[in-house]
Amino acid sequence: MSKLGTLFICIFFLPASFGLYSNQSRILSQLHTDIIQNVEYKTSIRPEFETHVEFAYTLVSINDFDEIKGIIHTVGIIYVSWNDSRLTWNTSDYADIQFFPVHLGDIWRPEISLLNTVGKFEIFDHLQDKFIAWVTNKGQVHYSLGGVYSASCDPDVTYFPFDVHECFLRFVPFSDIFFRDFFKNESIQLAKPLLNSSDIHDEDGEWKYHAMTPCVRNVGNTNLFGAIFPIKLQRRWKFVFFNVIIPVLLLGYLNLFVYSIPVEAGERVSFAITVLLSYTVFMIVTAQSIPETSAPMPLLSYFLVFKLVYSSFIAVSSITISRIYHRDKDRPITIVYKKLTYSVECIGNCLINPNSSEKVKKDTSDKSDPEIAVSESNPFTWIRVSKAMDKISIAFFLVVIVTETVIFFAFLLNSYTNDVFDKSSLICDNF
Ligand SMILES: *[C@@H]1O[C@H](CO)[C@@H](O)[C@H](O)[C@H]1NC(C)=O
Ligand SMILES: *[C@@H]1O[C@H](CO)[C@@H](O)[C@H](O)[C@H]1NC(C)=O
Ligand SMILES: *[C@@H]1O[C@H](CO)[C@@H](O)[C@H](O)[C@H]1NC(C)=O
Ligand SMILES: *[C@@H]1O[C@H](CO)[C@@H](O)[C@H](O)[C@H]1NC(C)=O
Ligand SMILES: *[C@@H]1O[C@H](CO)[C@@H](O)[C@H](O)[C@H]1NC(C)=O
Repeated sequence: MSKLGTLFICIFFLPASFGLYSNQSRILSQLHTDIIQNVEYKTSIRPEFETHVEFAYTLVSINDFDEIKGIIHTVGIIYVSWNDSRLTWNTSDYADIQFFPVHLGDIWRPEISLLNTVGKFEIFDHLQDKFIAWVTNKGQVHYSLGGVYSASCDPDVTYFPFDVHECFLRFVPFSDIFFRDFFKNESIQLAKPLLNSSDIHDEDGEWKYHAMTPCVRNVGNTNLFGAIFPIKLQRRWKFVFFNVIIPVLLLGYLNLFVYSIPVEAGERVSFAITVLLSYTVFMIVTAQSIPETSAPMPLLSYFLVFKLVYSSFIAVSSITISRIYHRDKDRPITIVYKKLTYSVECIGNCLINPNSSEKVKKDTSDKSDPEIAVSESNPFTWIRVSKAMDKISIAFFLVVIVTETVIFFAFLLNSYTNDVFDKSSLICDNF
C-alpha cells in the first residue's frame, strides 16, 4: 500500500516538480536579464561611493614555512561580501526567489590584495571571472574561494628548537589607494568566518599552528585599512632535541673519559681525536637541520661551536699530558709542576683522609727545601705529575661542561612556554 502510495506521488508530482524547476530557471534567467544585463549596470562602477567589504580568511593548512627565506605558504579559504544596491529585486515579482548565482566577471567586485605577498597579489583575477558568486534580493553579494596564499614572514630562530613565530596575512582593498582620502577609513571589515579554522585545519609534522584573532589596522601611517590575519607557529621540538641536542650533550660528557684511559695504553690521543672528529661530522650533519640565518643566530649554533672548541682543548690537553708522562726520568721537574702536583694530591688526600694530608705537610716541612721534598714510598716522577694533571683536567672540563649545559638549558627552557596559543597576538597589538 505504501509502495503504491509512493508510486502515486511520483506519477502525479514529478511532472509538477519539473514544471516548477523549469519555471524557476526561466524566472532566474529573466532575473539575470533584468539585473545583470541591464544597460545601466556597469561592472567598473562602484555601487556606492563608500563600499564596505566584509572579509574573512580561514586557515586550512600550512603548506610550508621556510624560516630561512622567511616565507609562509598557507592554504586558506577567503570569504568576501559586499552590498551592491543595483542588484536588488522585489521577490514577489520573481516567484519568491531570494538569491541567485552570477559569474564574478559579470558584476562589480572590490579589488582586494594580499599586501605582504610573495605570490599572487590580487585576490580576484581574470581566471576567476567564471566563478560563481551569490546575490541576494537585498543586494548582498557573497563570494568565497580557496587558494594558496604565500606571505613573507620574519622568523626569529634565537631559541631554536623552542622557537615560536608569528606570521600574518594582510588583505587590503587596493582600488582605494588612489582616492583613499575620499573613502572612509573603514572600507574593509571583518566578517564572521564561514568555517572555524580549528575545526578544519590539518596537523603538521614540523609545526603546531593556530590562527589567531584577526583585526583591522592602518597600513603604516596611511588611512588605508587592511585586515590582518595572524598565524602563530610553534616548532615541534622533539625531533631536534632528541636527534641533535642529546647526542651532542652526551658526546661532551663522553669526551671527559679520555683521562681515565691509562697513558701506557697509548689510546688516549686517538680517543680524543676520534671524539673531536665525530663532533665535526656531527656538526656538518646537524647544520642541515638548523636554520642558516645569522640575524639572529640560533643559540644552538653557539652551543655547537662551543662544544667543538671544548673538544679541541681536551684533545690538546691529553696530548700534552701524554708528553709529560713520557718525559725522560732524568729531566728535572720544575717547581711549578711540583707545586701543582702537591696541591692536587693534597686536595685528594685531605678529602679522603685528613691525617695523611698532615703527613704530607710534615714531610714537606721537615726538609730544608719543601718544594723538592719526596716521600720515600712515592718518588717524585713525571708520571706523578701527569696523573695530577689528569685530575686537574677532569675537574676543569667537568666544571666547564656542566656550567655550559646549565646555562644553555636555562636560556632555552626559559623561552619555552606551553601555552603560546592562549596569549593574544603581538601583531595586532603592535600595528
Ligand atoms: C509558472 O509560471 C506561470 C506564469 O509564467 C505561473 O502562472 C505559474 O503559477 C508558475 N508555476 C509555479 C509552480 O510557480
Ligand atoms: C549590507 O547591508 C546589510 C543591511 O542591508 C548589512 O547588514 C550588511 O552589513 C551590509 N554588508 C556590508 C558588507 O556592508
Ligand atoms: C513588491 O511588489 C509588490 C507587488 O508587485 C508590492 O506590493 C510590494 O510593495 C513590493 N515590495 C517592495 C519592497 O517594493
Ligand atoms: C577614521 O579616521 C579618522 C581620522 O582619519 C578618525 O578620526 C576616525 O575616528 C576614524 N573612524 C573610525 C571609525 O575608525
Ligand atoms: C572554533 O572551535 C573551537 C573548538 O572547536 C572553539 O573553542 C572556538 O570558540 C570556535 N571558534 C569560533 C569562532 O566558532
